Amino acid sequence: MKKFIHDFKVIKKWLPGSNHVILHLLCSEPLPPIKAGQFAEILIPDEPEVFLRRPISIHDVDTKNNTISLFVKIVGKGTYKLSELRVDDTLNLLYPLGQGFEFPEHDKILLVGGGCGVAPLLFLAHSLSQHNYHPDILIGSRNADEIHETGEYEKYGNLYLITEDGSLGEKGLVTHHSIFKTDEFKYKIVYACGPEGMLKAVNQKLKGFDTEVFVSLENTMACGIGACLSCVVKTTTGNRCVCTEGPVFNTKELAGW
Ligand SMILES: Cc1cc2nc3c(=O)[nH]c(=O)nc-3n(C[C@H](O)[C@H](O)[C@H](O)COP(=O)(O)OP(=O)(O)OC[C@H]3O[C@@H](n4cnc5c(N)ncnc54)[C@H](O)[C@@H]3O)c2cc1C
Ligand code: FES
Repeated sequence: MKKFIHDFKVIKKWLPGSNHVILHLLCSEPLPPIKAGQFAEILIPDEPEVFLRRPISIHDVDTKNNTISLFVKIVGKGTYKLSELRVDDTLNLLYPLGQGFEFPEHDKILLVGGGCGVAPLLFLAHSLSQHNYHPDILIGSRNADEIHETGEYEKYGNLYLITEDGSLGEKGLVTHHSIFKTDEFKYKIVYACGPEGMLKAVNQKLKGFDTEVFVSLENTMACGIGACLSCVVKTTTGNRCVCTEGPVFNTKELAGW
């Protein structure tokens, strides 16, 4: 898929909770086709210490209005700088990168997101609904302060929530949710995004079920285009670059999962 470097204008910024920012960006050129699960390498403006672009998932796309959104957790200098952007500021993106999610043949689909890893799930739910799927969506987080845009997810599927402190939805880790407790787990396809520990726990939970599990990995990246090999993951067929061959993988392909 062809990659582009475009300038985007910040048209809306929202700081939900204490450590997240949601940016709505208008593209200076017509948007290229973008698949759910793909990401952008973002040039952090006016921050000489942040030399490398930062990989951030495409959170949602509005092709009619030529806009995309990003959902970012503030963890360091680069993401902090993104949280300081103002409306009308310009942001330079190299995108769309990676392979994204393949669409399923089954309609019993569960989307699972944890923490800020939830970012690609909104666009996935949106894209699935455009293909007449109505997935169930489970979002887990430490507490209610870290769960946002529930109304957006509800547009595209049935939303279930769980928090570690029980402040929203059920109480516990994602894999403790009652969706996973049933003896007859009904989903044929699970798409999961979040911290690697959570992804492994979800995969472990579903071993022995007739369910395909796809995970979106967030290995540390530098170039984002397959040149530096900093992002490789061990698979059953050898080392593969997460940035070009992922970030979405069927867990059957991941060595040691
Ligand atoms: C394909 C992909 C998609 C991503 N999508 C999103 C997204 O939509 N929203 C979002 O908020 N974040 C996303 N990330 C993670 C994001 O890229 C990092 O949080 C960001 O690069 C940190 O930059 P920084 O300068 O703020 O922090 P840094 O100063 O670079 O690092 C601060 C801390 O964050 C840790 N860190 C840096 N990168 C990662 C990473 N990839 N995974 C885990 N910990 C990391 C560092 O080890 C360090 O402890 C994604 C990562 C990848 C690889
Ligand atoms: S980030 Fe450079 S090869 Fe993947």
